[in-house]
Amino acid sequence: MMSTFLHQRPIHNPFSNQYLLSPHSNSTSQRPISIFNPTALLILLSLLVVLWVFLPWAGMPVFIFSTTRSPSVTKWRHYSLAQAASFVAKNGTVIVCAVSQPYLPFLNNWLISISRQKHQDKVLVIAEDYATLYKVNERWPGHAVLVPPAPDAQTAHKFGSQGFFNFTSRRPRHLLHILELGYNVMYNDVDMVWLADPFFYLQGNHDVYFTDDMAAVKPLQHSHDLPPPGKKGRTYICSCLIFLRSTPGAKLVMKKWIEELQEQPWSKAKKANDQPAFNWALNKTVGAVDLYLLPQAAFPTGGLYFKNQTWVQETKGKHVIIHNNYISGFEKKIKRFRDFGLWLVDDHALESPLGRL
Ligand SMILES: *[C@@H]1O[C@H](CO)[C@@H](O)[C@H](O)[C@H]1NC(C)=O
Ligand SMILES: *[C@@H]1O[C@H](CO)[C@@H](O)[C@H](O)[C@H]1NC(C)=O
Ligand SMILES: *[C@@H]1O[C@H](CO)[C@@H](O)[C@H](O)[C@H]1NC(C)=O
Ligand SMILES: *[C@@H]1O[C@H](CO)[C@@H](O)[C@H](O)[C@H]1NC(C)=O
Repeated sequence: MMSTFLHQRPIHNPFSNQYLLSPHSNSTSQRPISIFNPTALLILLSLLVVLWVFLPWAGMPVFIFSTTRSPSVTKWRHYSLAQAASFVAKNGTVIVCAVSQPYLPFLNNWLISISRQKHQDKVLVIAEDYATLYKVNERWPGHAVLVPPAPDAQTAHKFGSQGFFNFTSRRPRHLLHILELGYNVMYNDVDMVWLADPFFYLQGNHDVYFTDDMAAVKPLQHSHDLPPPGKKGRTYICSCLIFLRSTPGAKLVMKKWIEELQEQPWSKAKKANDQPAFNWALNKTVGAVDLYLLPQAAFPTGGLYFKNQTWVQETKGKHVIIHNNYISGFEKKIKRFRDFGLWLVDDHALESPLGRL
């Protein structure tokens, strides 16, 4: 499309040069005596030529420009999850996140860390607004998709709000859709940083891999079964990092998660997010599905990593993905990442496929 436009430019220029002559010819033709003057006739003739022949053409590059812009916008607007997944998938696997515009700096930080592990090619950004869709695809064509309808941007960001609940409720649907297309999928929140390659830990043939959001220290060789329920009668598995194989078991967990969200919709009293529903889905599928708890030392919750330096020292060299949770607010999260040397966008933006945003 760009080359079509560039090819038009040399044609456009001679026409606009001709066009510049017309004010001259106009002023001369205003003197009635000179109409029969051969020079005036020549100018008049060239004016007519400019008007009748060249003017419709001179307008054309503008027309071409506008039509070359809109197909790219319409292209991304109609880019489907199936097209996007088939474009980014490598070895039958995609890495997915879901982001709206305010999270772009976190997206970039996360992408830098993934690029360092050479897994960025598999990343698919599920854009939750059109600005994010166009921004990412403009910098990195094909790596963002929007599954309509886009949630209301004004209400989607405040943790605990109904808008935030609606926004996160889309997650199991996106993941189920990708599984049904036949891909394995790794989902991450974007307030994460990869320090090593997680795929090494995703071995075996389990259906669903996840991490514990409890900050209590576990023994290094802890069980990989679903942990026992906590105080609220359910587990505290994080819905922030999930690896799913495209198996009936993984699809069943996603369907249960969607069902649980519908049965316990958001209310002012509960101010739920999507995590309890994910835990109930695990609770109800535990016998039928092969679940796998990832090692705490490699995938610690932010409640442990950022709060227990003794543990961090003890498990040095074992950390794989760090999650900046157990804190809320963009500024606080950024400050904490900076304090721990994990805010990479200031000095390493060029390592991101999106560049500096
Ligand atoms: C491709 O996927 C298979 C099965 O998930 C895995 O064993 C293998 O290591 C992967 N290969 C590459 C090159 O990532
Ligand atoms: C959330 O979704 C519900 C049900 O679809 C809808 O009625 C409500 O208006 C949405 N709220 C916000 C804040 O997006
Ligand atoms: C599922 O939840 C119920 C109710 O809290 C609990 O009694 C049961 O132990 C849980 N099952 C598993 C496998 O966690
Ligand atoms: C911090 O980590 C150490 C070492 O693993 C552990 O013994 C201690 O109980 C932890 N402290 C808290 C408050 O969890």
